[in-house]
Amino acid sequence: MAPIDSATSPRAVQDRALIGGRWRMALDGRVIEVRNPATDELVARVPRLGATEATQAVDAASAAFPTWRALTGAERSRILRRFFDLIMRDEMRLARLMTIEEGKPLSEARGEIAYAAGFVEWSAEEAKRVYGETIPASSRDKRILIMRQPVGVTAAITPWNFPAAMVTRKLAPALATGCTMIVKAASATPLTALALAELAVEAGIPAGVVNVLTGDAREISDALLSDSRVRAISFTGSTEVGKTLMAKAARHVTKIELELGGHAPLLVFDDANLDVAVAGTVATKFRNAGQTCICANRIYVQSGIYDRFAEALSVAVRSLRVGDGLDEGVQIGPLIDDAGMAKVEEHIADAVGKGARVRVGGHRVPPQPSLADRFFAPTVIEGTTTEMRINSEETFGPVAPLVRFESEADAVAMANDTPYGLAAYFFTRDASRLMRVAEALEYGIVGANDALPSIPQAPFGGMKESGLGREGGKYAMDLFLETKYVSWALEPTE
Ligand code: SIN
Repeated sequence: MAPIDSATSPRAVQDRALIGGRWRMALDGRVIEVRNPATDELVARVPRLGATEATQAVDAASAAFPTWRALTGAERSRILRRFFDLIMRDEMRLARLMTIEEGKPLSEARGEIAYAAGFVEWSAEEAKRVYGETIPASSRDKRILIMRQPVGVTAAITPWNFPAAMVTRKLAPALATGCTMIVKAASATPLTALALAELAVEAGIPAGVVNVLTGDAREISDALLSDSRVRAISFTGSTEVGKTLMAKAARHVTKIELELGGHAPLLVFDDANLDVAVAGTVATKFRNAGQTCICANRIYVQSGIYDRFAEALSVAVRSLRVGDGLDEGVQIGPLIDDAGMAKVEEHIADAVGKGARVRVGGHRVPPQPSLADRFFAPTVIEGTTTEMRINSEETFGPVAPLVRFESEADAVAMANDTPYGLAAYFFTRDASRLMRVAEALEYGIVGANDALPSIPQAPFGGMKESGLGREGGKYAMDLFLETKYVSWALEPTE
């Protein structure tokens, strides 16, 4: 074991979860092995916690809540600001740790750490602005006050593909509003979350306010959702699991926010700037080796630009460098696991079997000494149709399927023909079309000539089966706040 050096691993703890300010093993000693997807090397063992430890975390978060909510917004803001500073101080260390457990290239991991820290910085500022309201009453002797108060103990279930940003996007607004939180870290990538927890402690966030659990996702989420003290939960992951959690949240009418699967269309119109459209397609499609909920999954290209776009995209995709994310210049890392590789292969085989043609890639990268067989060649496929799995299911891999279209109406209809509604992109230089298409797309996030829309201050979330609620910016606060209406009748005057 131990390919992570001390400069990379969380300094004090790389094999403990955080409950009530204590770094803990599982009560029964069970562990989960964390492996580097690029090399298959064992990098750490973290506790496989279950229902008992989850309930202990709820105890700790409940005990910490009264003191944390009693701080002023400005006091919480200062602590969160320290947390932000510490994340940025350790940016490179955290980025390396992320690459080792998740596989994404170091430059992308570094970008994610800054993105993750941005949620903490933004929430630190917003902690001072949890405003109420007064509303004019219906009678002269009444006053109407609206208060916004923290819901209490909250929980987050986070995914492996963004091991830092999906933690802070949930945790930071919860803490800003005065809530306490239990974070269930993804089993494939728990080390970044634990390292963040360590920095939260260093920043002075009191014991029990942040708890980070590793372990059995189903057992832990069941325990959290069957505990009536947990008042809100935020989940990022598959639509299938999101639906199950939503049903379980009904038990205690727990507030729930869901950021679920997507199947993002990307539309390139004849009047698009070709270079901008190609660069944008590469950026959104191949970010994190295509393992992103908002990355383009279906690329619709208008007839007049199709041939030039397909050629330029193929040239760009052929030049992408695949390898261990720690190596200089690598742009595409490994897929997270063997099941991920198998799914990509199945989607390509299904498409080719139904008439599609592979233009670039389409296969595993031939095995290399000291690397795992988990690298997929960046791929462009042409002639895909709606009957193919690749055009209806999330591939979560570096595969760009191209579809030719004739009219704007056809492209918008195809783009919206899905139960998903997370992100969509389009490229055009016609201002009227830009507004028409932006309005017509049934998606929570629309990139108009922009393939990288994720920023801390904007609302992130989907329509239809892609989710419920929004993370990011001031919108993130809603999940963690109750709205209380106080109707105040004045004493009669003499
Ligand atoms: C995700 O894949 O869920 C997150 C992507 C992002 O925040 O940009």
